[in-house]
Amino acid sequence: MNGQNTEILDLWPTKLVKKKLENAEEANSELIKLIREWEKTNKSLTTDYRENNPFELDTPATNWLRSEVNQTIIEYLKAIGINFSVDWQIHGWANVNRTGDYHDPHNHPHCYLSGTYYVRIPKLPSTRRQRSDVRPNHITFYDPRTPFNMQSIQGDPYIDPEFTVLPEPGLLMLWPASLMHFVHPNLSEQTRVSISFNIILKWASHYLPSQ
Ligand SMILES: [Fe+2]
Repeated sequence: MNGQNTEILDLWPTKLVKKKLENAEEANSELIKLIREWEKTNKSLTTDYRENNPFELDTPATNWLRSEVNQTIIEYLKAIGINFSVDWQIHGWANVNRTGDYHDPHNHPHCYLSGTYYVRIPKLPSTRRQRSDVRPNHITFYDPRTPFNMQSIQGDPYIDPEFTVLPEPGLLMLWPASLMHFVHPNLSEQTRVSISFNIILKWASHYLPSQ
């Protein structure tokens, strides 16, 4: 039991949202069709990420996804204790990873939050032999305070400097844009399809902290 004069603070936390969206199947097949259409005119959808913002389209699937992303941002802001009005825009792009494709470690400068919605995640055939530590199609996030694991001991929250997820279709993730992440290679013949986005704040002077 803590002593009456003991304060144990939770300083500099990193919040990351994982949310499985309900009834995603219909939207996912519509999103796949849209992305296939875009690929007919632009073979580099993933690297030309400033074009083809799916969140600007008025279709049932993109409207559904926009509303889910907006709702999740509201949940995130509430969870971190923001109790004033915040206005943002969503800048999104489609990612299509074919065999061998990956995204090396990066963060997303000049944004407040970043996220990804997973449309299709291939499964490796069980006959395929890989090294046991290979994690195809996973995403790994890295502790922004990397040195914290240097002296950590079993059971303390800083023991593992990375957090890895194998996403499934219908999963929406959201995190602070500064967080480094790595998308592991796709080793399947099937495509891995996702829609990533940045949340860019429409600036207001009341965002400034009183310091
Ligand atoms: Fe990213």
